[in-house]
This record gives sequence, C-alpha cells and structure tokens, in this order.
Amino acid sequence: MDKIRVRGGNRLKGEIPISGAKNSALKLMAASILTSDPVMLTNMPRLADIGAMADLLMQFGVNLNIRRGQALGQTDTMRLHAEKIDSALAPYDLVRKMRASFQVLGPLLARHGEAKISLPGGCAIGARPVDFHIQGLEALGAKIHLEDGYVVATVNGGLKGTTFTVPRASVGATENVMTAAVLAKGRTVLKNAAREPETADLGAFLNAMGAKITGLGTGEIVIDGVDSLHGTEYAVMPDRIETGTYAIATALAGGEVELVGARVDSNNALYRLLRNVGTEVTETNRGVAIHRNGIRPIGADVATDVFPAFPTDLQAQFMALMAVADGVSHIKETVFENRFMHVPELARMGANIKVHGDTATVTGVERLRGAQVMATDLRASVSLVLAGLVADGDTVVNRVYHLDRGFERLEEKFQGVGAEVERISA
Ligand code: UD1
Repeated sequence: MDKIRVRGGNRLKGEIPISGAKNSALKLMAASILTSDPVMLTNMPRLADIGAMADLLMQFGVNLNIRRGQALGQTDTMRLHAEKIDSALAPYDLVRKMRASFQVLGPLLARHGEAKISLPGGCAIGARPVDFHIQGLEALGAKIHLEDGYVVATVNGGLKGTTFTVPRASVGATENVMTAAVLAKGRTVLKNAAREPETADLGAFLNAMGAKITGLGTGEIVIDGVDSLHGTEYAVMPDRIETGTYAIATALAGGEVELVGARVDSNNALYRLLRNVGTEVTETNRGVAIHRNGIRPIGADVATDVFPAFPTDLQAQFMALMAVADGVSHIKETVFENRFMHVPELARMGANIKVHGDTATVTGVERLRGAQVMATDLRASVSLVLAGLVADGDTVVNRVYHLDRGFERLEEKFQGVGAEVERISA
C-alpha cells in the first residue's frame, strides 16, 4: 500500500490550484439520475470517492464518460446519462467504501420509484446513522424497511410534498430529501435544513435542471415539485475543505501561498481564526492568499458546528496547527463523536493533547518530530501530513488510501509550493 513521506522544515511559497468540491460533486453525480437527459459536470475533482460513485451509478445503467484535464489545475469534465435506470440496487461492496453512496436513495426513489441500498460505511467517525434520511423520505410518502443490512424503499402513487424538520441540520438527510422532493407533487418545506455551501450548490444544480427550490443557504428550504427535470451543464463549486487545509498548512509551515480558485465566503470561520492566531488572509482576484512570517502561531479555542461555524472537516488540521502554537487551546467537536482518532498519532510526533469527552486540550510544543503514523480517516490523515511539514526529520503516513479519497494530487500540490511531500509506491 502507498505511503506519503513528508520531510519537515520548508516554508511554502507559490500557488496551489483548488479543485472542485468532493462533497458537492458526489451529490451532483447522484442527482444527475433525476433526468433522462445527459448532464455535464465541469470542475470535477479527480478522487477515489468520485470513482466509487461512478461505479455505483454505472451499476444502475448510467452511461458515464470522463474527459481528463492533464496539467495540475486543469480539471475533469464528466458526462452522465441516465437514459433509463436498469437496476436500483446499491450493493454492500460499493456502498461500504463510501457513505455518500447513500445519497442515491432520494434520486432513485424520485425517478424510479424504488431502491435497495446497503447501509453505508465510510469514515469511522462515530455511529453516523441514516435515521433522519429515512424519516424525511417517509414523510414524502416512501415506504421503507430494513432487510439484511439493506434499506428497501418503494413509492406507491408518487411522492407528495410535506413539511419536514431535519433533526440536527444533517447535510446528507437535507440533500437526500431535497433530491427526492424536486419531483414530488406539491410543496415541500425543509425546516432546520443544512446551510452548507455544498447543499446550496446541489440546490443550484437542481434548479439549473428545472427544479424550483428557494431558501438555499438558509435553514428553511422550499421545494415546489415539478413533473420532470432536464439536462444541464454545471461547474462544481471549489472545495472549501481542501482550501482550508492548504490555508492551515501555510499557517503551520509559514510562507506565502495563493489558493487559486478558492471562494472566500465559504471559509469565513476559518479565516477569522487564522487571523487571530497570527496569519494574514487576503482576498485576491484569483482566490485567497495566506501569509505567515516566522512568528509562532498563538493558541486559540474553537468549537466545530454546522455552517457557518467552524467545520468539523477542518478540525484535525487545525489541531495540527495548535499542536505547535504558543499557549493552550481547546478544540471542541460537536458534530461527530469519536472524531479524535488523529490525537494519538499527533502524540507520536510529540504533540501534547488530552481529550476529555468532546474537547481536546492542546498544549502547544515548540517542535514536533517525524514518526511513522497511521491515517484513520480522510481529514485525520491530512492533519498528519500537515504536522509533518513542521516536524524534525521524516514523517511517513501509512494507509494513504484515505487521502486519495478526498485530496486530489496532494503531493504534487505541496511540491508546487516547495514542500517535500512524496508518495512511496508499494
Ligand atoms: C457531510 C459531509 C462530511 C461532513 C459532514 C458535516 C459529505 C459526503 N460528507 O456528512 O464531510 O463532515 O457533512 O459537515 O457531504 N446524523 C444522524 N442521523 C442521520 C444523519 C446524521 O444521527 O440520519 C448525525 C451524524 O451522526 C452526525 C450529525 O448528524 O453526528 C451530522 O451528520 P451529517 O450532517 O448528516 O453529515 P454527513 O452528511 O454524513
């Protein structure tokens, strides 16, 4: 299995092109089956998770082609054509690799009237049930039961608009219900809906296909059902988690990096925090520039929460920064339980972190040292690469497949700004 080796000590300088957002692209792909017309998705990231979703959709009978961008910064374009749905079965082997596979449930129900989807796997970050998804689709009139680890869903006489309050503003549940409701009869009101930019991107894509959705980006999304949707061409929004990861990397290693294509408004909580700890964040006409001189970052407290608060998907990366900050910081994780698996790995590199319940107390140390570490989930693994940038000696991150799920050309992007990050192929 491939490994990533990081040699610490270099400051970063230059520019990094930001890819399309994984967490939007996957949902747009799933939603493309709502129409029998072809759909073109541009600015697609090249990731293992995108390949997993493509495999799943092809299993349903979707015709799918990719035009690859060659150089770094040239993105992929994907054409998806679900002229007809041959099968609505999402088998365990495909779904277990990636939880986002479950997002095909809403579109399949709306277009095909039935679906049989394995209960999902994905990152091992807490229990991550799908009860809210099921409650929301049942509220639209779907009949759902569990059978041998599968969710079996059917619709008799079509889905009907409803008012549904999403418990805990779940991203996945909001999106599954929204993608089903676009073809339901009448109006659906989603209260306490997810306000995440990727959810709004999915809604904008659906509107481009002829859906009638308002209130995107707010806690109340209103969907007026239409009879059918049509094909469209749509550019996936830039990845705010990839952007935030490279922003934190620059704050950690020091230097000056422009994140080309980044959207400022989707990362305000992070930028406020980075400024507080001593980093300059400036909007440029191509994206965002991050700058930190030689002064050590200052410790700061943060709690993750739903958008627009600080995202859980940047918690591990921010902890790597706080591990070398001047002072004590408290990092509270409110979205997922058990999302501190990076803590023992950072500790192997010399970080001083204590976890009590949902809060990690990080006492910054002056130096980290390189070590062999193990990636446990997507965001945790990249935090170890980040820590490696400022560690003495070499850090070797094992189980790199987690990184390949969510970070496009990670080593090339880091090399482009002068970091020594390389892949060791097994
Ligand atoms: C999505 C993102 C993930 C991000 C997360 C929170 C994708 C592919 N993934 O995940 O990167 O970390 O949003 O921003 O877009 N919950 C339930 N029952 C449910 C659904 C959720 O209890 O039916 C709980 C979860 O266990 C979790 C919380 O609600 O504690 C939020 O989860 P949710 O917003 O649904 O996250 P995902 O859509 O899985």
